[in-house]
Amino acid sequence: MTTTITFGIQKGGVGKTLTSGVTAYLLSEAGYKVLCVDMDSQGNLTQFISGIDDLSEFENETVLEAIKEQDARPYIKGISENLHLLPSDDYLATIGQFLYQEYDGNRSLALHHTLEPVHKFYDFIIIDTPPALSEQTINALSTSTHVVIMFETSKFCYSAVPRFIDTVLTTKERLNPDLEIAGILRTLADAKRVDSQAMIQLIENEYPNYVFDTVIHRRATTGRLPIYGLVNNSESNQAFSYHKSFVKELMDRVRSEKTNQ
Ligand SMILES: Nc1ncnc2c1ncn2[C@@H]1O[C@H](COP(=O)(O)OP(=O)(O)O)[C@@H](O)[C@H]1O
Ligand SMILES: [Mg+2]
Repeated sequence: MTTTITFGIQKGGVGKTLTSGVTAYLLSEAGYKVLCVDMDSQGNLTQFISGIDDLSEFENETVLEAIKEQDARPYIKGISENLHLLPSDDYLATIGQFLYQEYDGNRSLALHHTLEPVHKFYDFIIIDTPPALSEQTINALSTSTHVVIMFETSKFCYSAVPRFIDTVLTTKERLNPDLEIAGILRTLADAKRVDSQAMIQLIENEYPNYVFDTVIHRRATTGRLPIYGLVNNSESNQAFSYHKSFVKELMDRVRSEKTNQ
């Protein structure tokens, strides 16, 4: 069975794209078949995974067209043998208009029906989302078995977490009973800042069962991954080290749930 993991929070600049991209890459390197789905019209995951900056290369061949056809298959790009991508570009911003005016069915399940034909090909589907509780995010949650809640150690992000959890629980209740919170991932932590350390502790006190033990710290080599790329990156040992430990924890959580079922 495919494990589908959404990375989300209604905040930008918190590491959703970088973390979802690195997670997908590390899983593919571990031998799993992985599909990345870019649900953000900014197309950053598309750029990060493909190494192609110019999104016009993907015009008319994106997740938007896949949703319109209700079939991902014609639009999936092979990046490596194990890593595939369903790209996005700016036009994904029109998805709401399409879903409200033309889509015949439950508009929150449009992505789910689009991905159903490819479930059998993948061990993992990893979905990156925009910084908003938009149709894209609801569609991502509605087709996921798990969600990783991204928590950048700041006040604004702190206030976003309970509202995001409410959205996840409402989606689970109304649309997708299989959805589970894999955990809250603390990112972009700054060891030199007292306020960052306080936020790390605060979120742990409030959600002790949800937080991952791994805290992803701000690190120059990690921040440079979108510049130097995921493959043949001479800094990759350092750049990936926090994420490797996170992915191990994530796999333990996802797998233990499966064996408990
Ligand atoms: N652990 C990290 N250390 C340093 N820079 C990071 C780290 N994680 C993400 N970044 C950088 O922070 C910026 C925002 O990350 P991004 O993944 O684009 O966030 P989001 O998708 O939530 O908007 C990017 O420039 C990215 O390279
Ligand atoms: Mg992003």
